[in-house]
Amino acid sequence: MRKPLIAGNWKMHGSLASVMALVEGIKKGCSSFSNIEILVLPSFVHLSLVRDILVSSQVSYGAQNLYVGREGAFTGEISGAILADLGCQMVLIGHSERRHIFNENLNLVAKKFQSALEFGLKPILCVGETQAEREANKTEKVIQEQLMSVIDLVGINVFQHAVIAYEPVWAIGSGLTATPEQAESVHVFIRELISQNNVDLAKTIRILYGGSMKPENASSLLAKPNIDGGLIGGASLDVESFLAICRAARNE
Ligand code: PGA
Repeated sequence: MRKPLIAGNWKMHGSLASVMALVEGIKKGCSSFSNIEILVLPSFVHLSLVRDILVSSQVSYGAQNLYVGREGAFTGEISGAILADLGCQMVLIGHSERRHIFNENLNLVAKKFQSALEFGLKPILCVGETQAEREANKTEKVIQEQLMSVIDLVGINVFQHAVIAYEPVWAIGSGLTATPEQAESVHVFIRELISQNNVDLAKTIRILYGGSMKPENASSLLAKPNIDGGLIGGASLDVESFLAICRAARNE
């Protein structure tokens, strides 16, 4: 049985006051939830504030990005070692905004994934196709490339410490959501790909869906057998909608 994971990706949002209210609301609202893992991903500068509020809470926190290596002359970058020192447990790797806006290529994404593991952080590897790629029937090819470039560098077995997030680029922040059937078919494809490399791992690895998941569509997406949780952007910035998605993952 795979424990559902609901992760809130707060992107470049929030002030000290709004982040405090958001994280306190989530902590309070989910204190009685069991059988679900809840993760918040604030901006780097809000991590210590979130850490202080989440002491002795079941909600964990992580980061949206990192740069490779332990330390060095890389102005403006944050390493896995720094994040681990702050108590982060997970980190997003290869989010489509990193790939498309900041031009992170397959090679850099794979190195970042490796670096997360090196410092004991669980990477959440984001994969997904653009609208043009979907229309050109290239969805599976693109996702295979995104996954294999990482597997080729680090091997398949370390994926026992990782999570995969399928996020169709055309659905992110656009209000468009993949239908549960569209999402499920890509999740099945990803699981089969993992299975070709490691049969047992394919049964346990969690594959999240992301892309305009909200309270109204969460239940139908999360009901699919291969969708093990969600990576939530916009709807994670509101306590009530985030908690509603968490409840949907618990099948309430
Ligand atoms: P969205 O973002 O829920 O606002 O579409 C998801 C993501 O980018 O992780």
